[in-house]
Amino acid sequence: MAREPASITPLEAQIEHSTLAAEIAEHDRRYHQEDAPTITDAEYDALRRRLEALEVQFPHLKAAASTSVGAAPSGKFAKVKHRIPMLSLGNAMSEAEARDFVERVKRFLDWPSEHALAITAEPKIDGLSLSLRYEDRRLVSAATRGDGAEGEDVTANIRALMAAPDPTIGIPAGLPADAPDITEIRGEVYLGHADFAALNAKQAETGGKIFANPRNAAAGSLRQLDANITASRPLRFFAYGWGEMSAMPAMTQLGMVDTFKRWGFPTNPLMARCESADDLVAHYSIIERQRPTIGYDLDGVVYKVDDLTLQARLGFVARAPRWAIAHKFAAEKAVTRLNAIEIQVGRTGALTPVAKLEPITVGGVVVSNATLHNADEIARLDVRIGDFVTIQRAGDVIPQVVDVVLERRSSEAVPFEFPTLCPCALKTAVIREATSAGVEGAVRRCSGEFACPHQRIEHLKHFVSRRAFDIEGLGEKQIAFFYDCPVETLRIREPADIFTLQRRNAESLQKIENFEGFGKTSVAKLFAAIEERRSISLERFIFALGIRHVGETTAKVLARAAGEWPDFEVSARRIAAGDPEALAEMQALDQIGDAVTGAVAEFFTRADAVAMVDRLVAELDIKPAEKPSAASPVAGKTVVFTGSLERMTRDEAKARAESLGAKVAGSVSKKTDLVIAGPGAGSKLETATALGVKVMSEEEWLALIGG
Ligand code: IVH
Repeated sequence: MAREPASITPLEAQIEHSTLAAEIAEHDRRYHQEDAPTITDAEYDALRRRLEALEVQFPHLKAAASTSVGAAPSGKFAKVKHRIPMLSLGNAMSEAEARDFVERVKRFLDWPSEHALAITAEPKIDGLSLSLRYEDRRLVSAATRGDGAEGEDVTANIRALMAAPDPTIGIPAGLPADAPDITEIRGEVYLGHADFAALNAKQAETGGKIFANPRNAAAGSLRQLDANITASRPLRFFAYGWGEMSAMPAMTQLGMVDTFKRWGFPTNPLMARCESADDLVAHYSIIERQRPTIGYDLDGVVYKVDDLTLQARLGFVARAPRWAIAHKFAAEKAVTRLNAIEIQVGRTGALTPVAKLEPITVGGVVVSNATLHNADEIARLDVRIGDFVTIQRAGDVIPQVVDVVLERRSSEAVPFEFPTLCPCALKTAVIREATSAGVEGAVRRCSGEFACPHQRIEHLKHFVSRRAFDIEGLGEKQIAFFYDCPVETLRIREPADIFTLQRRNAESLQKIENFEGFGKTSVAKLFAAIEERRSISLERFIFALGIRHVGETTAKVLARAAGEWPDFEVSARRIAAGDPEALAEMQALDQIGDAVTGAVAEFFTRADAVAMVDRLVAELDIKPAEKPSAASPVAGKTVVFTGSLERMTRDEAKARAESLGAKVAGSVSKKTDLVIAGPGAGSKLETATALGVKVMSEEEWLALIGG
């Protein structure tokens, strides 16, 4: 718990001050450079207030830190497209989930559960990933992961690190003759604990930026525009994977990593090959026991199916491989005081209670908010305002309240009463929806829909967010400003208003450029950014609508299936009108179930939502969805598998077909292009024959898609 500055020693104050300053600097960077703040203004203000309180008590801290707070240089790195995307990993949070992973892999491969399966286990390093490209055995580029598809070009920085007087990075400039012509090595850049402490001590002495944890320090050190600064930081590297390879030097995960080691890359000595889930769990414990003394941050153990042929069969789901998982270490915990419970209203009206905490450092990050999820969770915890609570933070997950320290409860603490009215000005009634099982759900929702200003603002924030319309210069802060703009004719109350803003500004006597925080240039830039987004891809557009349960991946599936906006709109409106055929068609899409179709129906039944969409569409040019891998002979085709398959499991066949751009449906209709029938095929085969749909065997299918 943070103490009153009065009762804190100068050393404690210095430590807390530097942690806070680093955190604020990071939020400044997210806000100013990425336009993607991760905390609310109120939370940000609380951090600042705490920093200022410390500075009032210890004025020397202010002088030392003045250069460390504020926006970092805003220069940019060149972008590098990854020829093979850099993916992330799914998580297993418990031993049971780790064992589940092994079972899931076997099921996918249709192996009996007792069948031995070789899986490697290795430390998950908490750093940042890097992709190194060698052409003709010479290093030609180094890139960060970025969003996985495109990273930043840090070649000059890596070369500078390699040329440092006492290099720690261990990346070879050239590869031996047996390395393939094109070789991409991937791994983690990190900073050891001792180097991290020394770096922060030096920064404190020279008034430089203090880093909150080794990962931030590694990222901040690598992403320096001045390569000489990078070269002065003792960054290290472990190779654990690869991207494009013109030939494969080995056919197992371990074989590949051993090859990298032979080629001169540092590899982790704790990597092992296991034969069973028991082995994996045992190796996990070995690594976990070494965690306190290993000298660098680990956040778990990564398991990977060893055989690369099996990896290829297993493939990927969304952005993570099916053949690997990260078994995370238990979260870090801390105890602090719960000062208040604030109710936030989300984009879809869900009321989320947020614990406002006395700021505390957990795992190197200052935490002042934690989610309490919903009213049931508050009741389950019986958490009361003024209680001391245990909070935990696991990886990038939002901090959570895990329990209450009852011994420290005050006798006056009373149970929290969840509001029955929305905190917005309208005080709309809060409803609890029934779940599909017919019981009251845990989520309480404001019934005001777009009449509720909270919902509208959150909806607008979602609309302009990075993965939606991504309008530069129109972030959460600006949305909040325009929503309640003092000049009524310049307000943004719904998405279409964004696209009429320039016109309205031209007609207005009072101009946006005259408001505080705006200027001629920034307004011109804002209008240019808005104009640029007038043309938008269908998938971004559908995602931006903010329909419940329609995330980025779902929006992509819906967009690709529809092709063009009018087609999507027609089918959505038909579903809303209760048309069973339209419903069945959407449900036949991969990853689309009742939740999504129900939400689409609900959205398009609402007159306010439909009118809002109509006004928006009138302002835009919505580009048709890209058809996936047009080169594939089955792209865009609807296929149905029936009967038993002999060369692969049903899941595998489905995943493969989808990766080639086909739609896999569960039932045969006149829209089906192809039925793949194995032994034992029954009514689906009959329907296909009756409808004249093309039928082929598994062998013919494999020949068609290239084996
Ligand atoms: S494998 C396709 N192995 O974890 C799988 N990742 O959560 C690619 N990481 O972005 C990742 N140690 O930055 C792998 N031994 C390890 C790792 C590791 C750390 C990081 C990596 C990745 C993130 C995914």
